[in-house]
Amino acid sequence: MVTDSYDPPADFELSADEMRALGYRVIDMIVDHHSSLADKSATAFSRRDDLERLLREAPPGMGSDPESVLATLERHVFSNIMYCTHPRHFAWVPGPSNFVGVLADALASGVNVCPGTWLESSGPSQIELITTEWLVELCGLPAGAGGVFVSGGSIANLTGLATARQIKLGASMDGAVIYTSDQAHSSNWKNIRVLGFRPEQTRLIPVDAHLMLDAAALSDAVDEDRRNGKRPFCVIATAGTTNTGTVDPLDAIADVCEKQDLWLHVDGAYGAAAVLTERGRALLKGMERAHSLVLDPHKWLFQPFDIGCCLVRDVRWLEESFSEHPEYLQDTRDKMDMSREVNFCDRGVQLTRAFRALKLWMSIKVYGLDRFRAAIDQGISNAERAQDLLQEHGSFEIITPAQIGVVTFRYRPPNCSDDDLNQLARSMFDGILADGHALLTTTVINGQTVLRLCTINPRTTDEDIRSTIEMIARVGADSYSSGDGARE
Ligand SMILES: Cc1ncc(COP(=O)(O)O)c(C=O)c1O
Repeated sequence: MVTDSYDPPADFELSADEMRALGYRVIDMIVDHHSSLADKSATAFSRRDDLERLLREAPPGMGSDPESVLATLERHVFSNIMYCTHPRHFAWVPGPSNFVGVLADALASGVNVCPGTWLESSGPSQIELITTEWLVELCGLPAGAGGVFVSGGSIANLTGLATARQIKLGASMDGAVIYTSDQAHSSNWKNIRVLGFRPEQTRLIPVDAHLMLDAAALSDAVDEDRRNGKRPFCVIATAGTTNTGTVDPLDAIADVCEKQDLWLHVDGAYGAAAVLTERGRALLKGMERAHSLVLDPHKWLFQPFDIGCCLVRDVRWLEESFSEHPEYLQDTRDKMDMSREVNFCDRGVQLTRAFRALKLWMSIKVYGLDRFRAAIDQGISNAERAQDLLQEHGSFEIITPAQIGVVTFRYRPPNCSDDDLNQLARSMFDGILADGHALLTTTVINGQTVLRLCTINPRTTDEDIRSTIEMIARVGADSYSSGDGARE
């Protein structure tokens, strides 16, 4: 792994020629990976013991030729991942990414930009301002709304909920209650805990037959809490659940929030980007009434990891929740016009932060929003196409229909009990992983273990969907005949 002859520069400064050679080599690796992806297995994975043997070493005192380090990466690291950009990666929420975004990340990192304060990075801060405001406008939030880019949906949800806590509760969380359904993403539960709410301060509102949060039940639960002297303050609704792509009835929930003076946090990490399309906009109606709204460009806006976004309908709420003014940062305020200029460290937890806005801005500039719109629309259509093909096949049962890019289903041989079908789906996952042609994962809906396809990658072709369904049916038949789904 280590070559003897390499003598790295003492000041970390490679010569211009060395930087170029290494940089071109890295670009070649990225392009080769990308252009050969469709012909490769969608996933590769090794056990810890094997990777320990291949990669474990003490931190090397001596440097090694970068070529040999890249070779190790290629051979043992990048060869052991689920390829999130693969056209047949349908698991969880894929990260389709795009090459312009990849280069933007290289640029942001190469110039080493830190848009924590305007003084440090006025140009990049202006780009973040413009790009977050593009999202404000696309999501239909009012003038005066604004946001911040963070690492992803989890931290964007944390940012929104911390803001809700600050604005609605001030210094005391006593008696406060927060409402959501069991279809909300787990990051919300994690965040509720991180923010210091106790389990008895949360209410699980039932969902209806379509897995949508029941707005009437929400209203009743809030009334009951008020009667019991509690302080209802926040509802988390989901615009595109991770399990099924379901959009909660946002308008009805917003009505309850308005009437009951509650903060509406909408987790649109997965689905909010569908607002760019006509079909998505109709489904997401009411999202624009959120007090805080999360959207993840590293999902359905095709950006490389990581970038999430939290928008709030009055941007001053973020500053009220997160700004701190230590003496060592006084120049970043005193020398600025703070009525116009923005220190993005005041809009979230991070002070030193990456220039994440660049990739989204550059991709939108290069491809144009219409291309994004068409690509998102195709993701919606792909799930509908998958549903049609699953139904035509005859071996499958649709559990939840295609909804903004997600369809769930079961392989359904005759004479199987529910328990058998659950077991069969779990063992089919092993078969799918071993096959490698495509990747999809299981989830549980109303106690049923189901298979799930999330079809948001615009590189996915009709043939990819067809061949994936054939593969699933083959794996299902094999698993069934080997007795993994026990027969009655
Ligand atoms: C609805 C929803 N919210 C939040 C998240 C968390 O986002 P991240 O993984 O970017 O932190 C996800 C991830 O899939 C999601 O689907």
